[in-house]
Formats: sequence, structure tokens, C-alpha cells
Amino acid sequence: MKHLTDPVFPEGFLWGASSSAWQVEGGVAEGGRVPSVIDENSKTKKPFADDSITADHFHHYKEDVALMKQCGFTSYRFALAWPRIMSAPHTVNPQGIAFYDDLINELVDAGITPIVTLYHYDLPMWAYDMGGWGTREIIDEFDFYVRTCFEHYGDRVKYWLALNEQNMQIIYGEHLGVARGVRDWFKDKWHINHIMNMCHCHAVIACHDMVPGGKIGPVPGYVPIYPATGNPQDQIAAMNAEELTEKVWNDFDVFREYNTFIQKYWRENDIDPGIMDGDMEYAKDAKIDFIAVNCYRSDMGKQPVPGINRDLKFAHMGTRGEMVYSNYEGIYALDRNPYVERTDWDWHIDPVSMRYALRYMWDHYHLPMVITEAGFGAHEDLGPDGQIHDPYRIDYLRDYIYNVGLAIEDGVEVFGFNPWSFTDLLSTGNGMAKRYGLVFVNTTDDDVRDLRRVPKDSYYWYSKLIKSNGREWGKDMTEWRDFTKQFPRASDAD
Ligand code: BG6
Repeated sequence: MKHLTDPVFPEGFLWGASSSAWQVEGGVAEGGRVPSVIDENSKTKKPFADDSITADHFHHYKEDVALMKQCGFTSYRFALAWPRIMSAPHTVNPQGIAFYDDLINELVDAGITPIVTLYHYDLPMWAYDMGGWGTREIIDEFDFYVRTCFEHYGDRVKYWLALNEQNMQIIYGEHLGVARGVRDWFKDKWHINHIMNMCHCHAVIACHDMVPGGKIGPVPGYVPIYPATGNPQDQIAAMNAEELTEKVWNDFDVFREYNTFIQKYWRENDIDPGIMDGDMEYAKDAKIDFIAVNCYRSDMGKQPVPGINRDLKFAHMGTRGEMVYSNYEGIYALDRNPYVERTDWDWHIDPVSMRYALRYMWDHYHLPMVITEAGFGAHEDLGPDGQIHDPYRIDYLRDYIYNVGLAIEDGVEVFGFNPWSFTDLLSTGNGMAKRYGLVFVNTTDDDVRDLRRVPKDSYYWYSKLIKSNGREWGKDMTEWRDFTKQFPRASDAD
């Protein structure tokens, strides 16, 4: 079948970008914000900066929204900070409420639809001291917090996201601060996961109770996993990896049940996930409306090596990153894919993974989707002309967005694209050194500088594309339809 035209994006498609509170705001001791676990966690990431200043969006939000408007944004995905809104158990901070009121008003006045995450890794320290994600008391606190948000912002915010990348928080709990203070992470993470699931359910139910016309969904961090070879055992390993890194979460969010794979896994490993009477009945009413997909890259699954049990690590080597791939005896291993390029930080660049992710999720769950993250992390600084020329990011975004278009053409329902990130902001593990923004922020890990905003070349390219609703690519994109020319193995190119 020959396609002669580029894919068509639906009218009203939400074009924007993405951020999270602790990664972009700074101002951690201002406006009544109380300390968070993530403040401590980010301090341990030296030689990189912590979250105390980052892009200083707390003081620059008006300027940032003006730049979004100028770019042509119709959406902005950002997070509310629990420690800014709730200063203590069941205690609302009016200054925190006012800050987000102003930000939301600024967005709405600019014609930008807010897509709001309720939780993106910044657990208040007071909640951690209560027992954090390991105690069921947090469910009630979270319920109070989300109801506060719905009450204050539900008139203007209709798209809500519950917990950012719960799957990644459970898989990489130590890196993201969830595992702090937990003794046996291998077993206890499933107990924590169930508590998070109940929090997710409370958010879904409260949103539907309180927000007229409100829609809410989860935000999986989706990394498609391809089998390394045609060896049938590699296929099963890839499926096992898929289960234990994403499907268990997606199945729960959509079907509100634990799938049979994870039940067998818990039995075999003598794990009690801590399900209490009434939990599963409660979950039944937590019917999500859509799925927000974060997809940056793919991985490759293969038969594991016996005798090794190792988690995936994002190791930092000087100015570069290097992935150390996981290996779980008898279950699966992940590996580098020789068919795709990699960023400076060793993340696979794989635009087809976006089409794959959308097709896979649609086939399994049949729910509308919005892209809430994808992006290219790079080392960058102002050039002699005072600008940032980032053709690699333009290529990345163009190819990923085109593949969203192909997925739409394949029949998948997608209603928006919000790459990571609008401005440069703090990376989860690599400070300001790893930049994702469409807009450069003039600050570094060891020198705050003047925090000036400088739109990168990708900002201007993205602006043209989104103002034309996905028609102005600036390049012939039809190569994406040619199956015979793509992806030579890195070794074949030598
Ligand atoms: C996503 C997270 O998984 O990846 C973001 O939701 C994060 O918070 C992004 O910043 C990129 O990861 P990193 O480690 O490069 O910052």
C-alpha cells in the first residue's frame, strides 16, 4: 500500500511540552514550600546541582508562559508540588495554592490547556516521616491532597495525571528516592506499589467526583522491549521484561486487577503485596479515561546470563552517561541495540519505538493517549553567537512526531504531544548537565549565572510545525515509510 501524503494530525491536537515541579521550579524554601525527600535525594547526585534553583521557574513562570504562547503551544504538561500545597498532614498552604492559581490563570489566558500531574517524585518530608510510601496512612493524606487540588483548580484544569511513572519509581526506587529507608527492596517494593496503586485509585475516583468534565489517567514510563534475536527464548525474555517493567502497571490501571503473571511471580518469590480487604472492590470504580505515555527510547530483551542479578543503572562517566543493563537470572536481561543510535547519555534514539508504543498500548487497552514525555538529553552551552544550535534535537523530535503521525494513521487515538522539556531543567540524575529543553536556561551545575531564557533552534522549528498542526516538517519525511532502507547495524556501517 502506498501512502503519498504525510500523516494528518486531528484538529485540536494538543501541542506543547512538559516539566515537573521539583525539576523546574526551584524556590524550594519560598512561598511556604516545605522540604521534600527529593531535595535530599537530589543533593546526593553531586557533582550535579540539586533542586534548590534549577530553572527558577518559580520566579520566571510568566516569562516562560509568554514563550510558550509565542511558540504556539496549545497545552503544557506540568506538576503540582505536594510539598508546596500541603505544608503538614491535612494542612493546606495558601501561598502554594496561590502560586499554581497564578500559573494556571496565566496558561488559560494564553490559550494553553493545562495537563496537570499530581505527583512527580516530590514526597513531602512530613509524609516520609510518617512512613512514606510504605505506610497506608499515606493513602488518606494523598486523598486529601488531590481533593484539595481538584477543589481549587478543577474549574480550569480538565486533564489530570495521577502518579508519574509509577513503574519506574518501583523499578528504580533507589535512584528516584522511593526506596529510602526500605530494607528489603526486592520484596517490599510490591507492598509500596500496592499503596501507590490505591493512591492512584483515590485520585481517579476523586477526580470523577469533583471535577466537572474532568479526565484522569496514569503516566507509564514506556520503554518498548524488542527481542534481541529470533531465538524463541529471547522473545519470552522480552515478554518477561515487558511484564515486569510496564505491563503489570498498565494492566492494573486499565483493568483494575493484578494480572496472572505477577500473581505467579509473587507466589514463586514468597512476596506479600499487602492487599487488604476491600482494596480490589474500591479499585473497581477507578476507571481511567486515557493513558499519558512517556516514551524516549526502546530496549532489547534477551536470555539472561545465569548467576547474575543486576538492576539497570544509568552510570555517569565524566561528561557522558553509560547504561549498565539489567540481568535477572531465569527471567530476562536487557541489552544495547546495535540497530539504533545513542545520545551522549547512552539512551537509544529510536523513533519507531514511539509508533510501536502507541500501537502496543492501543492494541492492549483501546484508550486514547497523549504523549507527555519524549526528548533528547544533551550537553549544551551558548555558542559564540549567543545561541544554541541543536539539529540533533530537531531530528529527534521530527522523527518521533512523524512516528506519532504514523501511529495515528495506523488507527491509534492520540490527542497530544508534549515533549520533555520546555525549558532546560534538572535531570533526575545528571543535574543541569543533561539538557532537554526547547529553551536554554543560562545556568550550570556550578554557576547559577543569570538564568536567562534563550530559545534554541528546536524551539523555532517546533513552533513552525505546531502552528501548521504537523504539516511543516522542513524535510522530506517519506523515508519513514520505506522498510528496506532503515537501520543498518552499527557494525555493517564500518
Ligand atoms: C522521565 C521522568 O522518565 O524521564 C522525568 O518523568 C525525567 O522526570 C525524564 O527527567 C528524563 O530522565 P533524566 O534522568 O534524563 O532526567
